[in-house]
Amino acid sequence: MAHPSIVILTGAGISAESGLGTFRDEGGLWAQHRIEDVATPEGFARNPQLVVDFYNARRAQAAEATPNAAHAALARLQTEHPGDVMLVTQNVDDLHEKAGSPNVVHMHGALNSALCGACDHRWPAPLQMAVGDVCPACAQPRARPDIVWFGEIPYHMDAIERALSQADIFAAIGTSGNVYPAAGFVQLAAHVGALTVEMNLDPSETVALFEDTRPGKASETVPAWVDSILAN
Ligand code: APR
Repeated sequence: MAHPSIVILTGAGISAESGLGTFRDEGGLWAQHRIEDVATPEGFARNPQLVVDFYNARRAQAAEATPNAAHAALARLQTEHPGDVMLVTQNVDDLHEKAGSPNVVHMHGALNSALCGACDHRWPAPLQMAVGDVCPACAQPRARPDIVWFGEIPYHMDAIERALSQADIFAAIGTSGNVYPAAGFVQLAAHVGALTVEMNLDPSETVALFEDTRPGKASETVPAWVDSILAN
């Protein structure tokens, strides 16, 4: 196929070698914090300080992190592949952008973005947010991290589903396949006949749905995969 259109989904595993913790690996974020306390609207309403502190800590850590060879390889794919490439990430860090990816679809939001709980305005988040920060648009003290919490609707789903319906290749990288709708993308791609490939340290929950599985560390499997795509 001359210029296959490619949809890529990344998860926390692609940032693991950059020092950012994953969620469900041994000792991961969900072993340290209760999801209902730090990643739900109810948790934020109950104890906004705990939630703001949680994302301030992750934002500070992400600010210090550097992209690894997997992020760099995907940026190279996006700039050198003549066909369409959509990079969708579940991650809220900006390592894809730091690696030079020209556009990144953050379906779960982003640490470097702030959201107004009153008027939906978004603006660049300060490194450390505080409870009651005021919205620059409506001046109400309703700023919150621009993160899609459990129970909320992921961003950009129309564009993602449109790209999946036209995909020739779908690649999932560093994600455990535990959280929908992202975990269902492989089925949408397979349904239209796309070649599906998983690059993950351990087999994901949805590994059986992928035609091609390449176990290993993303910093090794992803550059090799990108080389194989660009060689065609
Ligand atoms: N290289 C490749 N894969 C890795 C590496 C690595 N170096 N290290 C870990 N992994 C894999 C693990 O095997 C695991 O399958 O990355 C995956 C990480 O899975 P999760 O911790 O569940 O992260 P993710 O799939 O991104 O979680 C999805 O859940 O909590 C929500 O919103 C949160 O976006 C997150 C979503």
